[in-house]
Amino acid sequence: MRVVLLGAPGAGKGTQAETIVQAFGLVHVASGDLFREAAHKGNELGNLVKSYMDRGALVPDEITIRMILERIAAPDCRQGFILDGFPRTLEQARALDAALVERNMAIDKVVYIKVSSEELQARLGGRWICRKCQAPYHVVNLPPRTAGKCDKCGGDLYQRDDDTAATVKKRIEVYFRQTEPLVAYYRKSSMLAEIDGERPIDAVGRDILKAIGRRPTR
Ligand code: AP5
Repeated sequence: MRVVLLGAPGAGKGTQAETIVQAFGLVHVASGDLFREAAHKGNELGNLVKSYMDRGALVPDEITIRMILERIAAPDCRQGFILDGFPRTLEQARALDAALVERNMAIDKVVYIKVSSEELQARLGGRWICRKCQAPYHVVNLPPRTAGKCDKCGGDLYQRDDDTAATVKKRIEVYFRQTEPLVAYYRKSSMLAEIDGERPIDAVGRDILKAIGRRPTR
């Protein structure tokens, strides 16, 4: 099974990806996590990628498409994957379609998580992330059991460099300009499921599993 999670920064893509991973055992491929890993290495590619992320701009399509297509060609993705944060432009969506057709594959479901701009800003301002396993928390909506520590793996929690108020505003603008047109692109096919993401995390998760329409394997 191959699932795409579509939604603005802070819509809950990473949060809900975990629910899907737990239910179906798919591999979670998050473009932002792959870019943060590259940036952490501090090499030429990492520094270039970081320069875009720090401004809240999209990394150029050429770099992004190559990175994701390589990742989903890896053996662990053979049984299926969840794409979180990719595609984000029409060019990326077309490149993904073409690559899957070449491999006799297709996307089964595109889950679009809808959340208002005001709520997105509140969520990103209060977000903390595990440095080790990337699990997201929120100071109000989803606090960790022990302050500063991940419930799942005990890793340290940190706030992302691009979660400052000014960069969040820019990321949301970029989303509406460059990524939201993908909703219309996928609406033309029967694979789009639109989910109201402005409800409790569990309720959103239940609707996503229902929209995917398969029995959980775990
Ligand atoms: P990326 O890492 O993909 O960030 P994003 O899309 O901006 O999404 P976020 O991770 O911020 O939000 P999310 O939807 O996963 O929300 P979460 O579940 O954490 O991208 C970062 C950068 O990398 C981009 O700006 C760009 O530069 C580059 N990049 C990445 N992909 C790219 C691509 N394809 N092309 C080009 N450039 C690319 O939830 C947020 C918070 O809300 C958490 O605290 C959570 O606990 C809380 N929360 C979640 N759900 C709920 C709920 N239902 N109710 C209340 N609180 C909730």
